[in-house]
Amino acid sequence: MKKISYKEKPKKKHSRKKHKSMRVSELEGVYSQRVSKKVPLDQIICGDALEVLKSFPNECVNLIVTSPPYADRRMSSYGGITPENYVSWFLPIADEMKRILRNDGSFILNIKEKAENGERCTYVIELILEMRRHGWLWTEEYIWHKKNSYPGKWPNRFRDAWERCLHFTKSKQFKMYQKTVMVPIGSWAEKRLSKLSETDKIRDESKTQSGFGKNISNWLNRTMVYPTNVLHLATESSNKNHSAAFPVSLPMWFIKLFTQEGDTVLDPFIGSGTTALACRELNRHYIGIEIKKEYFELAQTSLRKKYTPTLFDLLNEHGIG
Ligand SMILES: C[S@@+](CC[C@H](N)C(=O)[O-])C[C@H]1O[C@@H](n2cnc3c(N)ncnc32)[C@H](O)[C@@H]1O
Repeated sequence: MKKISYKEKPKKKHSRKKHKSMRVSELEGVYSQRVSKKVPLDQIICGDALEVLKSFPNECVNLIVTSPPYADRRMSSYGGITPENYVSWFLPIADEMKRILRNDGSFILNIKEKAENGERCTYVIELILEMRRHGWLWTEEYIWHKKNSYPGKWPNRFRDAWERCLHFTKSKQFKMYQKTVMVPIGSWAEKRLSKLSETDKIRDESKTQSGFGKNISNWLNRTMVYPTNVLHLATESSNKNHSAAFPVSLPMWFIKLFTQEGDTVLDPFIGSGTTALACRELNRHYIGIEIKKEYFELAQTSLRKKYTPTLFDLLNEHGIG
């Protein structure tokens, strides 16, 4: 198998200008014919994730971070898959993602099951189990706490203020750059570390015998510590013209944690282009896929507004790269 260099650019570029006058179905056809098995670095492709992913080579991306359409959500704006069909819809896409993710890469799936008839749906849990059967490791679950969520009440629950960010990997030896997401130690430390008892200075075995010991004195003179697996981030969707955009800080956190500068990040449901913006900010390559022309164009516009195109982008756009 040919090894992909991340500096390698696809030889035949498809012209974005030409695409504007074409329908999505035509675009998909052109796309798969012209850039078959090439990595379309720093591009957003208008098409169906499953079809577009099939044209990518094996093990060509370092990280996949995405938020797919949730079941039965926002039917009017971008369709919706029923909870019953969700697993069978998503699994072939997950299989393609597994093929194109590097063996030391990570896949972050931002998702939240809805409640229906007084109960939470189980399709996310079923999806996790099926993905494990298809060879994925369910390595971790991060929680995105929407810290600006406003209050609300239903007869049997309160407002949803968190979403899952499921972390899947292909192997136990995946790349993780933990120091990049360290946080200030916080004010608790001043009080807690000012008077250390004798047990604080040795490895103190947990009273529950859980095997997790701690030596509090390890934290003396530290200003930065590792974060927890709960991300407290505000939503930002009101200014994005996309009803389900995540805040740029969400993909950024995972991009810093699981990739280095020059690596490649894929978002197969890129919507308004948030993941691409995060990649530009952090000097990573991006590949985005979006089925709706309206959102595809929105993503292009957001990138343009924020970043002046490079010579490579311009050549690419005119089909002479
Ligand atoms: C939850 S939104 C993603 C929002 C995105 N994270 C952002 O910040 O804007 C899911 C997106 O997936 C797109 N989508 C739905 N089905 C798709 C498919 N089969 N292939 C590619 N994109 C699809 C929708 O149009 C929608 O924009």
